[in-house]
Amino acid sequence: MAGQGGSRAAPRRSRGVVISDDWPGYSLDLFTYPQHYCGDLEYVLIPHGIIVDRTECLAKGIMQDIGDNNIVVLCVLKGGYKFCADLVEHIKTLSRNSERSVSMKVDFVRQQSYHNDQSTQNMQIIGGDDLSKLTGKSVLIVEDIIGTGRTMKALLNSIEKYKPKMIKVASLLVKRTSQPDGYRPDYYGFEIPNLFVVGYALDYNEHFRDLNHICVINDNGKGKYKV
Ligand code: HPA
Ligand code: MG
Repeated sequence: MAGQGGSRAAPRRSRGVVISDDWPGYSLDLFTYPQHYCGDLEYVLIPHGIIVDRTECLAKGIMQDIGDNNIVVLCVLKGGYKFCADLVEHIKTLSRNSERSVSMKVDFVRQQSYHNDQSTQNMQIIGGDDLSKLTGKSVLIVEDIIGTGRTMKALLNSIEKYKPKMIKVASLLVKRTSQPDGYRPDYYGFEIPNLFVVGYALDYNEHFRDLNHICVINDNGKGKYKV
């Protein structure tokens, strides 16, 4: 289970920011975004600046909890790369300006929940370094979005076999799904409605990763990039 292991730090759960189901978002007219996505988006759910500020808050909480450890940051690709890069930068800045210094190694895993065109219960971890390197280490898994938590639980199971000293999970987004007892990470930025979102590295069939804001895709966008 995340947060267990040899850590002496008290478990600390970030409450996160809750975006309610009736939140109308921001009009796209108020923001700049790549011209090629014009007509493909419904509205801006979370502007880029708010994501960055919130990530700084999460970095502070992480520093308070595990700042004296040497951490292995495990970035879950592809969607986690923006959040991970910004989170690591904030932790580095906080570490430079505080007594709690932290050394970080950054590693990457990619999870594949499909085999050919079939969804599979057995998540495969691909492209990651040998996970046995995590034995005895303090691991911070960094993910873009958690829905039911099935994918994250599978990843945690795989990592726990190697007996790390501690595992914490930070996810930028937690989606409210129909399963109210879903998995909750140790740190998360925003709890969002059950909508398909894109931007800030979250994709729809590999598109929209180059959009800075987190937006709700519309039917036109879904149709245009359908595979
Ligand atoms: N957007 C992109 N990727 C996702 C989402 C989403 O809303 N939910 C799960 N993976
Ligand atoms: Mg992800």
